[in-house]
Amino acid sequence: MLLSDDELWALSYYRTSEINGSLFFGRLARTLKPSPIQHDLTKHFADEAQHAWYWTDCLDRLGTRPIKMSDAYQDQYLEAAGLPVNLMEIMAITLVFERRVINQYARHLAVPNVRAEVKETIERIMEDERWHVQWVRDALTGMEDRFGKDTIAETLRRYKAADREVYAHTLAEHEARLGFLLDAHPRAPED
Ligand SMILES: [Fe+2]
Ligand SMILES: [Fe+2]
Repeated sequence: MLLSDDELWALSYYRTSEINGSLFFGRLARTLKPSPIQHDLTKHFADEAQHAWYWTDCLDRLGTRPIKMSDAYQDQYLEAAGLPVNLMEIMAITLVFERRVINQYARHLAVPNVRAEVKETIERIMEDERWHVQWVRDALTGMEDRFGKDTIAETLRRYKAADREVYAHTLAEHEARLGFLLDAHPRAPED
């Protein structure tokens, strides 16, 4: 069975998001001094680059090619939430974003009759995404002495609000395309 236009659009969208994530974290990794964060962020952006490849390869196996997209979800994020001003804020926005990604992929897995190639790709990516949430959460905990627990919690709240706004906007904008995901009932996302 051929991929529907909507599915092709969604998978292409994921691929573009992964490329954007890789570029974003890669640029960031380049600016960091030697530290555990430098180490983990380098692995993180390498993972996101791999994920873009997995989607490209998945679409190839499904007999098609990714659509070229211009819309960058992360850019809308930065617009809604404001540019992070320090490493703690970067980690906070990353944590919120990574949770959104996991939630989105879980939602897609819950779509009835999801294709084997897509399921396999999402499950492969999810293993890395779980680690992404884990290391960023640990990095934030390690920053509590420096930035204060309350300030970190407040920053996370601010980015979560921006995330909800951007996601609602994305769903509204692409409702026709992503409609097939709306009926899916994922398991509760990790927190
Ligand atoms: Fe990813
Ligand atoms: Fe990730």
